[in-house]
Amino acid sequence: MECDLLIDNVSILDGTGSEPCRGSVAVRGATIEAVGKNSCAAKMVIDGRGHALAPGFIDVHTHDDLYLLRSPQMLPKLSQGVTTVIVGNCGISGGPATVKHALPDPMNLLGESSEFRYPKFRDYVEAIELARPAVNVATLVGHTTLRNNHLDRLDRVASRDEIDKMKKELSEALANGALGLSTGLAYLSANSASTEEVIGLAKTLTPASAIYATHLRSESNAVLAAFDEACTIAKEVDVRVVVSHLKCAGIDNWNRSPELLAALDRARAQQPTACDCYPYTASSSTLDLRQVDERVKITITWSDPHSEMAGRNLDDIAQQWNITQLEAARCLQPAGAVYHCIAENDMRNILRHPATMIGSDGLPSDPRPHPRLWGTFPRVLGKYAREEKLFSLSEAVRKMTSLPAECFGFQDRGRIHEGFCADLVLFDPDTVRDTATFSDPMRAAIGIEAVWVNGVLSYQNGNTTGNRAGRFLPHSSGQN
Ligand code: ZN
Ligand code: CU
Repeated sequence: MECDLLIDNVSILDGTGSEPCRGSVAVRGATIEAVGKNSCAAKMVIDGRGHALAPGFIDVHTHDDLYLLRSPQMLPKLSQGVTTVIVGNCGISGGPATVKHALPDPMNLLGESSEFRYPKFRDYVEAIELARPAVNVATLVGHTTLRNNHLDRLDRVASRDEIDKMKKELSEALANGALGLSTGLAYLSANSASTEEVIGLAKTLTPASAIYATHLRSESNAVLAAFDEACTIAKEVDVRVVVSHLKCAGIDNWNRSPELLAALDRARAQQPTACDCYPYTASSSTLDLRQVDERVKITITWSDPHSEMAGRNLDDIAQQWNITQLEAARCLQPAGAVYHCIAENDMRNILRHPATMIGSDGLPSDPRPHPRLWGTFPRVLGKYAREEKLFSLSEAVRKMTSLPAECFGFQDRGRIHEGFCADLVLFDPDTVRDTATFSDPMRAAIGIEAVWVNGVLSYQNGNTTGNRAGRFLPHSSGQN
């Protein structure tokens, strides 16, 4: 037997959660040829020195839509062992988008208004294919993006006619490989959308067996009602629901994770339900006046009118200006913020739930991004699996690989198995960890030794190899 690559002497974590086994993995072209004990004549042999080999990680929740085109080498993700990103989350997507006026919040998280150049979904896919990013890309279509294409103002519900226009765009996107629809109902740009508006639009998903992903209408006091709304919408149109960055936000909601997870378990017994989580106790987004709470530490990451305040805490700015934090926040908008608003025990409960996938929610356009952008996956492996033993290493890997692959219908990814795509990451399980911090957030993880995307060595020795072998992954019909 002959193959292109033999990764020898590794502890194979196959992605399913089963115990690691020693052996080697043979790759031919972009495909895993054999797993276990190989004696093939390989053009290239890598000695894994007993380290862990896992399927490349799937970042199920990203805002890399335009960053992929700006920085196709995708270092923040590749350096974590991520080989696939899902974009278009939280109601905002790079396509299909026509931006006539100023970018509404939170579309401004993705990039500048001039970067939204993809009026048709197909245009966005072509741009991705042309950019040849280093990681695979699959995308949702954002409800807020569609609203912005068709509504004159976003603080109202869409009319029947506008819903029809959005449906047409969504179905065109689904026909061209979109995974489904995302909403960001908590944001003011979508908060006026009624449950009926979303159901009306989401009906388009049914024939495609597509996905409904949602940043809930509330992640704080009304989180349970918001969770129910998400399940109602998905059930009504008979599709899978993915609840994004599940959390109990705000001090008044600390310790509510058991209630929330009980609701998740009840939903799972009724309908296909999934969620994702990032391993931090701080959230990050645009600066939202409704989230200003004097008891919560809020750090400003950027501000259009006051760029000099980036990196400063809101309480400190308010003190300097001799006004309240709420007044200061109003002066700083539009702005970005990190909110230290989550309890560690809630985050841990959600992270370790067997239905929870890992999603970074990283914000690559932020000049001072939340460290989750560079640190999420190694942090789960290092801090939460190895050090704190919240779950086993193979369970951590499952949450990043086969679980998301099954959820999103990537039928030949997410496992180290004969015939699967050769998205692979070699890492040292004894040293792997994140190094990005809130004060120094753009630092690559350590312990990620090599990353292959579709069989191509893309990251090694702390740097990209320059190879970019990512593909656009269309939604596979007939999944689940
Ligand atoms: Zn979100
Ligand atoms: Cu998000």
